[in-house]
Order: sequence, then structure tokens, then C-alpha cells
Amino acid sequence: MDNFNFYSPTEFVFGKDRESACGEYVKKYGGSKVLIHYGGGSAERSGLLGRVRESLSRSGLSFTELGGVQPNPHDSLVYKGIEICRNEGVDFILAVGGGSVIDSSKAIAAGVLYDGDFWDFYSGKHVEKALPLGVILTIAAAGSEGSGDSVITKEDGMLKRGTGSDALRSRFSILNPELTQTLPAYQTACGATDIMAHVFERYFTNTKEVEITDRLCEAVLVTMVRETPRVIADPDNYEARANIMWAGMVAHNGIVGVGRSQDWNSHAIEHELSALYDCAHGAGLAVIMPSWMEYVYKHDVMRFCQMAVRVFGCQMNFEDPETTALEGIHRFRSFLHRIGMPVNFTELGAKEEDIPQLVEKLGLGSGKSQGFVPLSSEDAAAIYKIAAKAKI
Ligand code: NZQ
Ligand code: ZN
Repeated sequence: MDNFNFYSPTEFVFGKDRESACGEYVKKYGGSKVLIHYGGGSAERSGLLGRVRESLSRSGLSFTELGGVQPNPHDSLVYKGIEICRNEGVDFILAVGGGSVIDSSKAIAAGVLYDGDFWDFYSGKHVEKALPLGVILTIAAAGSEGSGDSVITKEDGMLKRGTGSDALRSRFSILNPELTQTLPAYQTACGATDIMAHVFERYFTNTKEVEITDRLCEAVLVTMVRETPRVIADPDNYEARANIMWAGMVAHNGIVGVGRSQDWNSHAIEHELSALYDCAHGAGLAVIMPSWMEYVYKHDVMRFCQMAVRVFGCQMNFEDPETTALEGIHRFRSFLHRIGMPVNFTELGAKEEDIPQLVEKLGLGSGKSQGFVPLSSEDAAAIYKIAAKAKI
């Protein structure tokens, strides 16, 4: 096991009706003037925003609002949010929504305290300080409620880029599984795919003997394989929703990646798809991740066998381990198909002829990425090609 630091300072407030106390948590973490940041309307329609406003007022807090965050959030709204915060003396940001809202909130939080262009942070500059932030989560997916990461798309050139800093971790995150019951089945499945991908990015490692982390990864993956079809069949199943919501946090706050190297190439390759086609990040991952697995599995066949046996219940074939590895990848793709995810470019709405453009924007040039298997531009093109034509 490699040396590591693990820092996850967020207070998680989990369960039914917990959002009604959001005002108390904002006060606890020093907020007095709040920006409520939210998305395209689901939080208003469900009555959640009404309850949030009531709670803030009950706690004697003043607030201003900025809605309209779109999935794969854009930089233009971030600039607007920074301006509002500066003009109105906002000292706390409350994100009410999913990963897109939380990521946009984090970008605003960093930008308000910075003299330059906030995009600098998405071009390599480290975020040293940010306004404090709280989260009320409405979709189990990105894991941004427990991570220090944020991903924003720059409209000029449609560049989707990320940043990461402990300064961006939420002070508190309210996780009420009931809030996810209004999600369409497709969004639930996109979220589930993203959660599994966050684990796989850490599961496929070149560091040996990190058994505790392997087993934690497998616990999250097995939970997702069991619970996702249950919520697709019965969207009001609170217990299944609760397991998925917590799995989404555990998958991405760092704990299932400690002590070893990680990959993240599938995420980088996917981000070019959601930037170009504005598809859901989870749907893009459903097409990319099994294709990446098919491309790299020979690098460590036994690790893929371990996934096949422990997560997807395959029988180990000791005489021909490759068949077990491939069966595991096949079961993963079939699972994604069964929960309603796209399998190939056509089902996603992507075009094979765009592959050169996708590869160019990925920006590897003549170099290689890092990770489980370092990838060149040619490797990325080959993975996009497998994804374009994949079938069940
Ligand atoms: O905008 P509204 O009307 O709220 O609708 C949203 C949106 O259309 C809807 N929705 C959310 N909660 C709902 C609901 N609809 C009904 N009922 C509810 N309770 O769902 C749609 C998707 O929301 P979004 O926030 O975009 O989803 P997600 O949480 O998957 O976030 C995706 C973004 O997170 C980034 C992705 O790249 C993408 O931009 N990621 C962020 C990460 C991080 N910060 O750590 C890591 C991830 O790997 C990921 O890259
Ligand atoms: Zn993701």
C-alpha cells in the first residue's frame, strides 16, 4: 500500500426531511448572506426550494438566488454568480441540485475570492481559498457532495475541464434519498453508471496488495448491481434509493482510492463526448467504460477476473482466464443495457466521423496519459472506435 493522506471534512446529514434544517447548518458554518444556486426547475417543481427558503428565513438568514444551471454546467453562469455574490455581499453558497449545480457553485465559490479569471483554476491553477459551500443533493451520481472536484464547460470552444482542491469541499451535504424519487429512470441509471465508474477508475490500479480498498470497491459495486434495478422497477423504493445515495458519496469522496494509483482515463475520454454532444456524463461513461475495459484488460487479466468473479458472479476459468475477464466485461455492459443505458455511439447520439475531433480535444498530442494503462492519442481513437460499434 502506498502512503496517503485522507481528508474528508464534510458533515453528511442523511435521511428523510433533513433539508428542513438547512438554515441551521448554514448558520453553524458561518453563513449570513446566502446564494441559493439551483438547476433548470426540478427543485422548484418538487417543492424543495420552497422548503429551503422557509428554513433559511426561519434561521434569520437573508438570501439571493441564481437558477438555470444546465447539465454539464457552463462558464457563463459562473461569471454571473460571481458578480451577484460580489454585488450582494454573499458569504455562503447553498447548492440545491445535482453534480452540475454543485460544480457550478464550487466554481463561483472559488471565483468570488480570486482577482483573476476563475477559468485559471480549470487550466491548472490550484484553488487556495473559496467561499464556504453547503449542498442539498437531489441526484445520486457525480459524488460532488463529498469530493473536492468541479467540472465546468467553457462555451468558447466547448472545453470541459476539471479542478480539484480541499478548499472546494462542501461544509455540509444534506442527503435525503426521498428527494431522488422524482428522477426519471434514465437519470437514475446515468447516476448509477457514474457511481460505478468512479469505483472502477480506482479499482483498476497497478498498486498491489491493497485488499481493504479492493473490498470496499467491491462492496459499492455489488450494492449498485443489486439496488439499481430495484429503483428502476420501483422509483419509490426508499431503502434502495438510500443505499444508492450513500454509495454515490462513498464512491467519490476518496476512500475507495486511498493507498494506490488510479486510472481516470475513461472519465477524460467521456468528458469530450458530453462536451461535444451535451449528453449525460453517465450515459457517455456507459458507452466508454466497457470499451476501455475491452481495450486494456490484457494489461492485468487477473484483476479483470477478480472483478468478474467478485462483482458479477462469474465462474473462474483457471485454464483460460481471459474468457472469465471478457465475461465480466460483457456482464457489465449487459447490466448497463438492462438499466436503460446506451451501448454505442448511435444510441448515445454520437458520430463515428467525429472521432478525430474528439481525440484532438482530448489534448494528448504526441504524449501519453497517466493511469492503469497510459494511453496515446491512437489508443484513445481505438477506444472511441470500439465504443462506436459496441453491441450486446
Ligand atoms: O436542472 P434540473 O431541473 O434540476 O434537472 C436535473 C438535470 O436535468 C435533473 N435532476 C436532478 N435532480 C432531480 C432531477 N430531476 C428530477 N428530480 C430530481 N430530484 O437531472 C439532470 C442531471 O443533473 P446533473 O446535476 O447534471 O447530474 P449529475 O449529478 O450527474 O452531474 C453531472 C455533472 O457532474 C460532473 C459531470 O461531468 C457533469 O458535468 N461530474 C462531477 C464530478 C465531481 N464534481 O466530483 C465527478 C464526476 O465524474 C463528473 O465528471
Ligand atoms: Zn463521473
